[in-house]
Amino acid sequence: MTEPNGEHMTEKTILFVDDEKNILTTLKRVFMEEDYRILTANSGEEALGLIDGGENPTVIVSDQRMPQMTGAEFLAQAKEKLPNSIRMVLTGYADVNAAMDSINLGGVERYIMKPWNDDELRNTVRGAFEIHDLRELNKELDSGLKKKNAELEQQIAENKKLIALTNKQNHELLQFGIKLKQKVQEQTKEISAKSNEIEKSFFDTIMAFSALLDSHATSYKGHGLRVSRIASGIARRFNLDPDEITDIDIGALLHDIGKLSIPTTILEKLPENWTTSDKSIYQAHPETGQRIIGFIKRLEKAGSLIRSHHERYDGKGYPDQLNEDNIPLGARIIAVADACDNIIQFKVDDPAIRKVFLQDEQTTGGNDNNAEGIELQNKIVIHHLKQGAFSLFDPDVVKEALKYLKDSGEETRREKVVTINNLAAGMVLASHLFTKNGILLLPYKSVLSQEYIDKLKAIHKKDHIVGPIYIRD
Ligand SMILES: [Fe+2]
Repeated sequence: MTEPNGEHMTEKTILFVDDEKNILTTLKRVFMEEDYRILTANSGEEALGLIDGGENPTVIVSDQRMPQMTGAEFLAQAKEKLPNSIRMVLTGYADVNAAMDSINLGGVERYIMKPWNDDELRNTVRGAFEIHDLRELNKELDSGLKKKNAELEQQIAENKKLIALTNKQNHELLQFGIKLKQKVQEQTKEISAKSNEIEKSFFDTIMAFSALLDSHATSYKGHGLRVSRIASGIARRFNLDPDEITDIDIGALLHDIGKLSIPTTILEKLPENWTTSDKSIYQAHPETGQRIIGFIKRLEKAGSLIRSHHERYDGKGYPDQLNEDNIPLGARIIAVADACDNIIQFKVDDPAIRKVFLQDEQTTGGNDNNAEGIELQNKIVIHHLKQGAFSLFDPDVVKEALKYLKDSGEETRREKVVTINNLAAGMVLASHLFTKNGILLLPYKSVLSQEYIDKLKAIHKKDHIVGPIYIRD
């Protein structure tokens, strides 16, 4: 079988080279029975011509002694052209040394002594083909292994590249993550600083409102702050949302902000001396208050509490004559807190109030008419709140207010009133401190140092500090 390119791929081809024709004939006969394709040549030159012509014998057997080219010479050249062929030399006893040379120099596998034994020769040739096949198989295996190895190496190199890339990406990702985290932290910090700033400026504004009212109606100095504190304490007992409590805090702080529109001449009069017009001006302050803060969106809810802080539980209040649950809870709480502060700060000292209290005690069979000092104050506060329940106040709010007052000690937390000359270092202001010209000198909660007091006294000489000064007890 011959491939189109002339190479005999599957056939076992053997080339015999000898200058004696009868030996070539004998050799052909020896291998007649074998399944070989047999080529013959009479000289090395002719044999090389066959090879150059495309023949590719697997086994080449050449006579050593030939006229022009010796077997060794021919086989050395044949090795150059067909390095995979198995080459053997036929030699007579006298030429053994030359045959050995050809083995060494010409890459000849073996030599065959003349005269040969046919069976041995057949076995030798058969063995040569087997060696060839084994070598080819080895080569294939080897190249297969090499290929596999190369593939593996390539795979390893690719894996290394991948790992390096992954590591790089991981590193970058990590760096990116760290940077992102930093960025987020920075921005969060910035935002929270901003929102703190906004929050602070919001509450500063509210405090400024409250300070404004304090400077306008000096006899009520600190009232808003105290009412806010009490209302907040009561509201907390009602399990309200923090936002709702904040609304109540603010509503309580600014509940009388509408009094800014009431002339001080009316504010300084006792209610029994009011004209009808004074009264209607006064009673407009809840609505005015709501309007004043109405332009601040966030104060809308506090505004509605301000509007309703003079409503009564029995529906006889103003401006809308709301009753019971129709009055917002926050407003019902502010009403009670407002009354608490009025009683605690002013009424307990009023002899007429005391007299009423003591009379009530006697008619109800109470035996507290001997109470004195703080004990008496507490009783007057409690008495007043209880008296107002169901008429002025929501009884549930009164109940919680009484508990709150008792728990917090608020009922006895009266603020001391001092004059400028009685100020002492370490005192804590319970209300903002203003000059007569309305200049805020110190905010409430300020702790007075001697240095402050000296300065206040110096200012007082030029721009009168409007008395009284409230100090925390
Ligand atoms: Fe009021």
